[in-house]
Amino acid sequence: MPPTILLTNVSKHYLMPRGRRVVGLDKVSLSVEAGQFVLVEGPSGSGKTTLLLTVGGMQRPSSGQVTVAGYDLIALSHSKRAKFRAEHLGFVFQMFHLVPYLNVLENICLGAGRKSDAKAQARVLVDRLGLADRWQHKPSRLSVGECQRTALARALIARPEVILADEPTGNLDPENTNRVLEVLASYCDEGGSVLLVTHGQEAYGHVDRRLRLENGRLTELKLEG
Ligand SMILES: Nc1ncnc2c1ncn2[C@@H]1O[C@H](COP(=O)(O)OP(=O)(O)OP(=O)(O)O)[C@@H](O)[C@H]1O
Ligand SMILES: [Mg+2]
Repeated sequence: MPPTILLTNVSKHYLMPRGRRVVGLDKVSLSVEAGQFVLVEGPSGSGKTTLLLTVGGMQRPSSGQVTVAGYDLIALSHSKRAKFRAEHLGFVFQMFHLVPYLNVLENICLGAGRKSDAKAQARVLVDRLGLADRWQHKPSRLSVGECQRTALARALIARPEVILADEPTGNLDPENTNRVLEVLASYCDEGGSVLLVTHGQEAYGHVDRRLRLENGRLTELKLEG
């Protein structure tokens, strides 16, 4: 089977005033198979979010090739990339982007498109992510960690091939961190692929691979170290 995510020599430079260039990604090559749970770490500003935005087709690289779920993202038009994202990708953002006037369950259902069993699926996720007594609350009445878990459920509900998660456990206590990691790991066991940005070592026991970014350069690390 071809890899779910394939990046070949991908660079991203941000052009700043007076011609200054900031490095986002520097000749990154990466292949992720279906079912792999991949951790991405690295200091602030090292390119982690840029990597996720590039794999998610939300940002075009300056050079290189990006293929995700069989789609050449560079070749796709703007509207086809939007369709690709809706059908093949779940994204948990660093800022959750929940809809403020919808409750937890309604926010989760937003990720399901027109699936008829969306509500039942959303309730399963609500239970698995420890949100059972919060599902009627709107985001303004949730803790940061509850918002994060709602955003994760919204990304999972359509069962996309790829989940891109940017520090989804950053504000969680150990119990809820573990819950999120277990949900992501079981999604991978069923064939999904995850790129998880995290600084926490709690994830080491759950992931298959550990990658590190520094100044936009990607290296693969040993899991145990
Ligand atoms: N839209 C932009 N315009 C200019 N520079 C940007 C832009 N987005 C990111 N950068 C720069 O690109 C580099 C990588 O940013 P990125 O957001 O990918 O880092 P990160 O590893 O996710 O950091 P953090 O851990 O703080 O979230 C940084 O130097 C950042 O300032
Ligand atoms: Mg970031």
